Amino acid sequence: MEQKKENILISKEQIDTRVAELGKLISEDYKNKNLYVLSLLRGSFIFTADLVRNITVPTKIGFMTTSSYGHGEISTGVVKIVNDIPDDIKGLDVLIVDDIVDTGITMDFVVNHVKELGAASVNCCVLLDKPERRKVDIKPNYCCFEIPDVFVVGYGLNYGDYYRNVPYVFNWEEN
Ligand code: IMP
Ligand code: MG
Repeated sequence: MEQKKENILISKEQIDTRVAELGKLISEDYKNKNLYVLSLLRGSFIFTADLVRNITVPTKIGFMTTSSYGHGEISTGVVKIVNDIPDDIKGLDVLIVDDIVDTGITMDFVVNHVKELGAASVNCCVLLDKPERRKVDIKPNYCCFEIPDVFVVGYGLNYGDYYRNVPYVFNWEEN
C-alpha cells in the first residue's frame, strides 16, 4: 500500500492555494444568495471540508451519496441514489461539490436531481476535471485543476477504497 512520492501530480501546497482562490471566488459570487453546498460522498469529503473553510458567506452544508453500476473501468452510466439530500433545498442556491468530473454522468444526474427538487440555482464545483473523458455535455462552473486522462488518487479519491487520506493527488500505479 505504499505510494511513490515521485508520482505526485498535484502537491498539497498547490491544492491549498487553489482551494483558497476558489473559496474566495465562490464567496464573492454567492454574496446575497442562499448558498447550500451539496457534497457528494465519499470522494469529495476532504475537498469539501477545505473548501467550506474558505467560504466566508453563510452556507448550509449537506451530503449525498450516489453509486454507479459497473463502477471501475466500464460504467453503465446508471447512477443510483444511495443516500439522498437530507434537507429541503427548494429556493436555495445549490453548489454541488465533487472530487472529479470524468464522464460527467454522475454530475449531470445530480444537477438534474437538484433542479427537480426546486433549487433556485445549481452550479458545480470540482477539484479535478478530465475533459477528455466526457460522455455528456457538462462543464463545471468552478474547477481547481484540469488533468489529462490518467487515473489519480489521494485527497479524497480512491483506488479500491484506499488512498483517500493522502494529502496530495498522485498518479496511481502498482509498485
Ligand atoms: P463520472 O460519473 O464518470 O464523471 O465519474 C465520477 C466519479 O468517478 C468520481 O466521483 C470518482 O469517484 C470516479 N473517478 C473518475 N476518475 C477517477 C480517477 O482518476 N481516480 C479515482 N476516481 C475516479
Ligand atoms: Mg465519486
